[in-house]
Amino acid sequence: MNSREPFDLLRIREETFIRNISFHHEVESTNTLALELIARGQPPTPLLVITDCQTAGRGRGSNRWWSTEGALTFSVVVDTDGLNPAHVCQASLTTGLAICQALERFAPTRDFAIKWPNDVFLEGRKVGGILLERSSVVEDRLVIGIGVNVNNSMREAPADVMPWATSLADCLGTKFDRTLVLIECLHQLERRIDELRRAEASLLDQWRAYCLLSGRKVTIDMFGTQISGTCQGIDEQGALLVRDGKKTHRCVGGIVREFS
Ligand code: BTN
Repeated sequence: MNSREPFDLLRIREETFIRNISFHHEVESTNTLALELIARGQPPTPLLVITDCQTAGRGRGSNRWWSTEGALTFSVVVDTDGLNPAHVCQASLTTGLAICQALERFAPTRDFAIKWPNDVFLEGRKVGGILLERSSVVEDRLVIGIGVNVNNSMREAPADVMPWATSLADCLGTKFDRTLVLIECLHQLERRIDELRRAEASLLDQWRAYCLLSGRKVTIDMFGTQISGTCQGIDEQGALLVRDGKKTHRCVGGIVREFS
């Protein structure tokens, strides 16, 4: 399998809920482009913005996202109908869940997990990241940015990425058809986002089942306040629960600085 195999865009449109595709060999960031497309007009949704390679991929906060050929790098623009904008953690966890469940189809014996709130882990290393953004121009659009290391190898990764990340190919020792991986990601995303719109209670059980941090010692930086304790899982709103000596903190946002 060639890691630079082109995407089969026709098949993606025919077999998934995507109705509109914007493909580019190289862009700065698919999320940035998706936000620009929304601002320029109202592209029909669900819209898929996909690229072979990003030159300025973005992560949460000031993080960068290394995205090279062989990776799966895309953004899906959906309507916000039924999605509560206050509960961005829920949408992020639900996307993470969809990606775990999609990747499991290709590596059924491997261990996938969501590292709250927006990372996908494979066998203890980060294999994917999620960046949710809302347009400041058109309120009822949500951009779901997803990066998955598929056929790209950590041997080519920058020094700050290499030690803690992995790819499907590195872990499984084989290359994958990125069109098939993408189609499965989109199938799972459609299903899980529908469940979120319907506020299905089963989602909470699924977030919890995939929560990497449950039972571990964690330190969270929540808007400048450091919270350290044992992770007690996730609540109905998607907040991370962290128990220190005195109380259980609900972390509704923030960055996981350490976990063990
Ligand atoms: C993170 O790890 O903090 C999130 C990474 C999100 C990366 C994806 S790749 C597609 C989309 N475009 C971006 O610039 N970022 C997201």
